[in-house]
Amino acid sequence: MAGAREGALEAGLARVVPYEGRFAPDLVEICWRTGLMGESLEGSGRFEDRRLFAMLFCLPYASFEPESCFVALAPRDPARPEAGERAVGYIVGSSRAAAQARDFERRWQPRIAARLFLYDWWRHPESFAQALRFARVARAEEAAAAKEPGPGRPLLGGPEFPALLHINLLPEWQGRGLGGLLMAAFLGRLRELGCPGVYLETSDRNLKALPFYRKLGFEELGGASGAAPEPGEFWAGLPARGIAMGLRL
Ligand SMILES: CC(C)(COP(=O)(O)OP(=O)(O)OC[C@H]1O[C@@H](n2cnc3c(N)ncnc32)[C@H](O)[C@@H]1OP(=O)(O)O)[C@@H](O)C(=O)NCCC(=O)NCCS
Repeated sequence: MAGAREGALEAGLARVVPYEGRFAPDLVEICWRTGLMGESLEGSGRFEDRRLFAMLFCLPYASFEPESCFVALAPRDPARPEAGERAVGYIVGSSRAAAQARDFERRWQPRIAARLFLYDWWRHPESFAQALRFARVARAEEAAAAKEPGPGRPLLGGPEFPALLHINLLPEWQGRGLGGLLMAAFLGRLRELGCPGVYLETSDRNLKALPFYRKLGFEELGGASGAAPEPGEFWAGLPARGIAMGLRL
């Protein structure tokens, strides 16, 4: 892995830059190709509406706090420099996860609802069904006080861990050091802001992400089980244990 990583970066093939709105279409694609617990939704029969999927899991962060989001850029076609660059990976998040969640409710939920009812129910019924499931499960989690502190479990988005992140790279660009670079850019920004800690949510099925996070020093948050609520109902047929992890800065 180290050889490939040094090769790609030393050859100047890819670089990490701050997010700009023009990268949004690339984010939609990356999110959809890696969003099913690290794997593509292609052929899964879930969320064929790619933009809707990114409206739930990616774009709201880039819109709320773009100055804290970063993309990995690479040539569209290495043989034709004139074809320009595209984003092949991103880290999106917020130094103020609680405020971002309120922004999501205020600005994004109405857009998501409009898209569902005007467009998805007839064009992408599977996206419609999954999004409704998501809304139900997310609400049930809140009701179960999933994000509340418990014995040995800090409040996610609270004073100890106010920041949240999501990181995704296209499969062909994984394992080349870009994840580490994206994370370094994001954590550097959080440190500049004086942010004390960052959390993320993943699952025990994401065998790519877990070793990566552990290597970077993230630890499971939580009481005895260290578990966040199970996302199994959201991804029906894919039972998985939700895992919240945190890093103190
Ligand atoms: C998880 C992900 C972001 C990691 O990015 P990456 O570019 O592949 O990781 P890097 O090559 O930068 O690796 C950084 C470090 O983590 C280690 N690492 C990465 N993946 C690893 C793995 N599967 N096993 C062990 N170590 C791993 C690397 O060895 C490296 O350590 P080093 O610098 O000491 O050599 C990337 O694989 C990805 O986008 N996966 C799909 C989307 C996803 O699952 N996102 C997370 C959702 S919760």
